[in-house]
Amino acid sequence: MGTSLPLSEFPALSLDPARLPRHITIVMDGNGRWAEQRGLARSEGHRRGKDSVIAVVEAARELGIPYLTLFAFSSENWQRPRAEVSFLMRLLHRYLLTETKRLMRRNIRLIAVGDTDRLPEPVRRALRQMEEVTAGNDAMTTALALSYGGRQDIVMAMRRLAREVQAGRITPEQIDEHLVSNTLATAGLPDPDLLIRTSGEQRISNFLLFQIAYTELYFTDTLWPDFRERELLKAIVAYQLRERRFGAIDSPPDHSPLRAAN
Ligand code: FPP
Repeated sequence: MGTSLPLSEFPALSLDPARLPRHITIVMDGNGRWAEQRGLARSEGHRRGKDSVIAVVEAARELGIPYLTLFAFSSENWQRPRAEVSFLMRLLHRYLLTETKRLMRRNIRLIAVGDTDRLPEPVRRALRQMEEVTAGNDAMTTALALSYGGRQDIVMAMRRLAREVQAGRITPEQIDEHLVSNTLATAGLPDPDLLIRTSGEQRISNFLLFQIAYTELYFTDTLWPDFRERELLKAIVAYQLRERRFGAIDSPPDHSPLRAAN
């Protein structure tokens, strides 16, 4: 797997290739503001946001990040004006139709997570095709969160587990963190190590609620259409400066209450 992003182009940033996040997830925000700042229609921000998606997938692949999850459409986004929803769906459709070659060339698998049954049929068909065609690719997995909501994800998982108990296939005691995790829409993906949110908002907005228990959070003022390779590198550099303890304390233990708290 390549770790050969031309880092020489970014002399100020130095990455430790041995401590890359395994799973990066991004709340892509600020398309509308990017367009409004330029007196353009919001759709222009989304169009440019699609180019950021392509650039960031490429950059993550170059760096050797095994998993990348992008929050592309939330369950709440259905409440946007009909014209904007339909523009986003057409953009997504076009992305799925035109990106196959690149993803195949780069050995990237693409999957969707979320309530994809709500998506328009042409998008669902393109997604199915993309998932089938890229299923054998193993350099990186890109997950598109579509019609996704963290609470809904947990509710659906609870229902599935309740049915398993009702059918006598499992006992309530067998329900543990591992089983819940494997019943969520993201089953098979490791928990994210790094969550990035663009555009200055510092919220999770009903994204991967269960999965981000120990994820490092990184917020940047950069609007998504301006978020490219360099911004991704900056986020990873910041991640590498963090000390991850997963609720434990360092050894040798330091008795300062600040050190002990996580
Ligand atoms: C948030 O910006 C972005 C979205 C709701 C959609 C994300 C869509 C893309 C990045 C483009 C296409 C995606 C793919 C996968 C091809 P916003 O509209 O909420 O911005 P604002 O907060 O400034 O209004």
